[in-house]
Amino acid sequence: MDKVKNIIDKLNNTGSLEKNEYEYIIKNYSDKDFHYAKELSKKKRFEYYGNKVYIRALIEISNFCKNNCLYCGLRRDNRTCSRYRLTKEQILSCCKESYELGFRTFVMQGGEDAYFTDDIMCDIIHDIKKTYTDCAVTLSLGERSKESYKKLFDAGADRYLLRHETADKTHYMKLHPKEMSFEKRMNCLNDLKETGYQVGCGFMVGSPYQTPKTLSEDLKFIETFSPHMCGIGPFIPHHATPFKDDVAGSVELTLFLISVIRLIKPNILLPATTALGSLESDGRERGIAAGANVIMPNVSPMSERKKYEIYDNKAFSGNESALEIENIKKEIAAIGYEIVTDRGDMRKEV
Ligand code: 5AD
Ligand code: SF4
Repeated sequence: MDKVKNIIDKLNNTGSLEKNEYEYIIKNYSDKDFHYAKELSKKKRFEYYGNKVYIRALIEISNFCKNNCLYCGLRRDNRTCSRYRLTKEQILSCCKESYELGFRTFVMQGGEDAYFTDDIMCDIIHDIKKTYTDCAVTLSLGERSKESYKKLFDAGADRYLLRHETADKTHYMKLHPKEMSFEKRMNCLNDLKETGYQVGCGFMVGSPYQTPKTLSEDLKFIETFSPHMCGIGPFIPHHATPFKDDVAGSVELTLFLISVIRLIKPNILLPATTALGSLESDGRERGIAAGANVIMPNVSPMSERKKYEIYDNKAFSGNESALEIENIKKEIAAIGYEIVTDRGDMRKEV
């Protein structure tokens, strides 16, 4: 009778399920099961992180991209996208402002922009790490060679986010043009790990052609790859992409999966993503309540912020970063959590 609950108990006790068990709970979870998973996830999260929420300063350094992912508004075939890239000075000034606001992690995120060569990136990373010795640098710049990952790591980068998008090869091929490959994505993730980065993977919830079965592959992948971080957020259509008429992913399912991922890997760093906050005004808080422990406010220059339009109606804060962080602190405090000034590294497993 309580089959879903029994499976969730098993996950809570062992951190592992068979693929068909993941598929079963995704297909059959009830409202009651949702709350049960959420409560267990909350307990696990408290064991490692208490009520602390880590913040990362998200700097969107370029919206140029050589790729043509079918879901993304930054794809190269989107001629209506107004392209920009930040200068080194702009990036350093974002870091300065963020540091003063209490951020101790800077995330440099961008499309696959050939302008940001290894030399240019290493120079920027080096300067940031020299100035802010108590900070972590996270990169999210897509697929690069192992040599490139190594150079950026040696220059001081600590973490790298590269969403796997889907752990099912056939599904991957439906989301990407044929020049992109599932094997390459998986190789990049392995290269990043071998290089010594703290690595983040992730996927969209409700992307076109996704099924409970492909999601069960994602969850099994998280179990076996054991990333330090995992970013998940609902798919949201963008008007200038082939998926413009597809429906957005479900906030409820995203929250349920956040709880499930927390049970798989209790010490994982899980962001309450912008996509979650874009579909519902309290999406981010609900993400934290479901087991997420990271928030990544956008600190990019106000003049460019609207241009990083991966999907339609992306949550945009017209607030200066100082006001934005005050608002987030209040929202988070209202649900019993606390934003901290900390690098926010992953806790060791006990
Ligand atoms: N909806 C939600 N998330 C998206 N991403 C790209 N396009 C969309 C979309 N339409 C996510 C992908 C990618 C990251 C940059 O943003 O997972 O890795
Ligand atoms: Fe480029 Fe990333 Fe968008 Fe793909 S998802 S088009 S790689 S920015």
